[in-house]
Amino acid sequence: MIRKSEAPTTVESLEADLRALGLAEGQVVLVHSSLSALGWVVGGAQAVVAALTNILTDSGTLVMPAYSTGNSEPSHWREPPVPKAWWQVIRDHMPAFDRKLTPTREMGAIAELFRTWPDVRRSDHPACSFAAWGRYAHAITADHRLNSAFGEESPLARVYDFEGHVLLLGVGHDRNSSLHYAEHKAVWPSKAQLQVGAAVQFDGGRQWVQYEDLNHASGDFPEIGWDFVQAGRVRIAQVACAKCQLMPQKPLVDFAADWMSRKRK
Ligand SMILES: CC(C)(COP(=O)(O)OP(=O)(O)OC[C@H]1O[C@@H](n2cnc3c(N)ncnc32)[C@H](O)[C@@H]1OP(=O)(O)O)[C@@H](O)C(=O)NCCC(=O)NCCS
Repeated sequence: MIRKSEAPTTVESLEADLRALGLAEGQVVLVHSSLSALGWVVGGAQAVVAALTNILTDSGTLVMPAYSTGNSEPSHWREPPVPKAWWQVIRDHMPAFDRKLTPTREMGAIAELFRTWPDVRRSDHPACSFAAWGRYAHAITADHRLNSAFGEESPLARVYDFEGHVLLLGVGHDRNSSLHYAEHKAVWPSKAQLQVGAAVQFDGGRQWVQYEDLNHASGDFPEIGWDFVQAGRVRIAQVACAKCQLMPQKPLVDFAADWMSRKRK
């Protein structure tokens, strides 16, 4: 990490790089991130969140994924799969999702710190919650429906309504969750629902609930992202050591929905 960096990255140098990329006060921005991709940052994740919030100010809104995808139907697990004999034990004993306690999974150190940041609100989805800070934090995280992880009743749709941006901070379009929202808008022959489950806390106690959601797939996300770059809609620049991409989310989702409707079988 230290060898990768010509000089230590600081809050101030991050702010300068992010502003050059196009980040500005008042924007609504959904960030997917890798801390290590930036090279060595003085203060690590804390410095990155500080730089982002300093630029946007509380007239803007910062959003990050806070997924806890371990709280999900165990028969669908592939990385790794678990023995069939374990499935019911997992369903019976998985702790219920708790906005404050449940850690993020595979979202990175920046997103994990962000969910605990002062004045951040977290949506109530047991597996695919989002965290948000700033002007529209409440509007973006309220009413995240169980059967709409990435659909019309999800924070992704609210970012779309507010004409927000997506910032890929050292990660690729394979991590661009807004493309899942596009899947809800697209139509293709094999589009199907999936039966899923999660442990949820109700007034009466913890319960394993089963629900249906779209059977999401992300195999074509890198190709869609590349085509959107070719269409000239993505600003690309170096932030510290990382190649980063900033794009308007609404045109991205509309482009991707059209792409999927034309190309998915
Ligand atoms: C999975 C993923 C988070 C891994 O990225 P990563 O950079 O390896 O991991 P993190 O962002 O958690 O950063 C931690 C790493 O930063 C590095 N690090 C530690 N201190 C650091 C510092 N001060 N400055 C820079 N890097 C530092 C370390 O390598 C650390 O890894 P370690 O804890 O194993 O030692 C990333 O590839 C990714 O996918 N991010 C997007 C997630 C997302 O939004 N998903 C939604 C759609 S699927």
